[in-house]
Amino acid sequence: MVVGGLRRLEYRGYDSAGIALPSGGDLLIERRAGALANLEARLDEVGRERFTGTSGIGHTRWATHGPPTDRNAHPHRSSDGKVAVVHNGIIENFMELRAELEARGIWAESDTDTETTAHLVALAHAGELAGAEDAKGDLPAAVRAVVRRLEGAFTLVVTHADEPDRIVAARRNSPLVLGLGEGETFLASDVAAFIEFTRHAVELGQDQIVTITRSGYEVTDFAGEPVVATPFEVTWDLAAAEKGGHDYFMLKEIEEQPTAIAHTLRGHLVDGRIVLDEQRLSDQDLRDIDKVFVVACGTAYHSGLLAKYAIEHWTRLPVEIEFASEFRYRDPVLDRSTLVVAISQSGETADTLEALRHAKDQKARVLAICNTNGAQIPRESDAVIYTHAGPEIGVAATKTFTAQIAANYLVGLALAQARGTKYPDEVVREFEQLEATPAAVAEVLESLGEARALGQELAPSKAVLFLGRHVGYPVALEGALKLKELAYMHAEAFAAGELKHGPIALIEEGLPVVVVMPSPKGRAVLHSKLLSNIQEIKARGARTVVIAETGDETVRPFADHLFELPAVPTLLQPLVATIPLQVIAAEIALARGYDVDKPRNLAKSVTVE
Ligand code: AGP
Repeated sequence: MVVGGLRRLEYRGYDSAGIALPSGGDLLIERRAGALANLEARLDEVGRERFTGTSGIGHTRWATHGPPTDRNAHPHRSSDGKVAVVHNGIIENFMELRAELEARGIWAESDTDTETTAHLVALAHAGELAGAEDAKGDLPAAVRAVVRRLEGAFTLVVTHADEPDRIVAARRNSPLVLGLGEGETFLASDVAAFIEFTRHAVELGQDQIVTITRSGYEVTDFAGEPVVATPFEVTWDLAAAEKGGHDYFMLKEIEEQPTAIAHTLRGHLVDGRIVLDEQRLSDQDLRDIDKVFVVACGTAYHSGLLAKYAIEHWTRLPVEIEFASEFRYRDPVLDRSTLVVAISQSGETADTLEALRHAKDQKARVLAICNTNGAQIPRESDAVIYTHAGPEIGVAATKTFTAQIAANYLVGLALAQARGTKYPDEVVREFEQLEATPAAVAEVLESLGEARALGQELAPSKAVLFLGRHVGYPVALEGALKLKELAYMHAEAFAAGELKHGPIALIEEGLPVVVVMPSPKGRAVLHSKLLSNIQEIKARGARTVVIAETGDETVRPFADHLFELPAVPTLLQPLVATIPLQVIAAEIALARGYDVDKPRNLAKSVTVE
């Protein structure tokens, strides 16, 4: 039943799996890197009949801390062998907790943040956790005592060898839902795991502890006060459940962008300073840099164009950017003072990997921005920033694009900080403005009703043009790419200033043109020039779809369709302006009857050159 539940969660993407069951005062645990089939093969090897019991927990892991290996796979076991834990999220203070455990002679077996919680719960359950002596022999109290020590995002599920008839879980940020069956009770990341057994579910809220037994459940807050939880009936079928109620993963992933950005930024500002992941480049290394080169493909390349604006603006370092597939054939000028930033969601893109290797041959230092822990590109880089967008199932990149922008800006701030081109308080202020964008993105996601109607209207178009200036230009490029890859429609983006140098000849009656407007409160000259561009194409019959800041009344007379965005600082506009373009492309594709998760001819990761 546990393995079956994991199988129904496979779509969420993972790179290792494991299960744990209390059995005769012991814990049976098996874990395997790779596909669920590896774990199943292992269970067959040791004898499935051994893995029977009245309760059990399981996990498919998407690696964040520590590469996807057997020993990093969940469940993690306590040093006394009595407690097993599975965890979704990121525990930010785990190094501090790990040091505390080491001081008590409890040493980590894995690279993960999760393992520390298993040791701590066992200590609490044994009445040996300072300040929680009353948790002795009481699993819910032990879990409560531990979660009060944790910082970050964590949903934990805990089993104890001596308590086979109950399982305890804690929820903060990462999803957790409860299923009520006949004489059986379930916990899962989403209803897909138990929907075949019951449709009676209970939504669990933030900072709650739930204890389940065969006959039911109890919910408290982290302080132990009882909480009333809300039962609901699951109306989705299994297919819909996997997509969070959406028809396609891509539509779900578009909605996940506020979280993807927030999780990518989480933990990167410590005591007023920017810190990178897996920092293997010292501040001195960053000070020795005299040039930055960005290499990437497709959507990652578009995020790289934005990295160029940010890094040059904050550090005054020259930034070149090149398609990875062109980079090594044009014999770029690189040396040990060059920092090459390799951006790749999958971390396996052959063009980008080969570009990285060429850069290293030229003694350049390489920093990877990647969404996949343990992938080849981060493994071969000198430093890494992971985006924490979670697995992206849709072939077309959406949440990983906006997460990459956030990560690129972190690199810019880290460089500015190391080189002193921004004062510490300026770096903090820029970071805090970044941290505020998930709320702005969430606001945009709430106001996209018209995008759906526009999909129907534009579906018959032969082509769509996209215009932008400054940071709006990479957004226009990304919007055009989305339309190409999802709706198989010809789409092209131009820097709006280029219109007069040829492209305006393309404008004809009824041709849709999407214009990404800068804020009227930003560089006024950019706004006024783009306003002129809109008037020029309107005069020639274009049908204008304008993405503009809320309250920008100057564009309204020239916009056949107007999407209004919340005001954000100029460099952050791409994080909000991209959202309508993603949705419009998806709606046009859907209106054309295409599968937006699996566009024709495309692979999620291009591992061949
Ligand atoms: C974007 O929607 C496409 N999926 C594609 O352009 C992608 O961005 C490109 O192949 C790079 O992939 P990577 O980020 O995994 O390296």
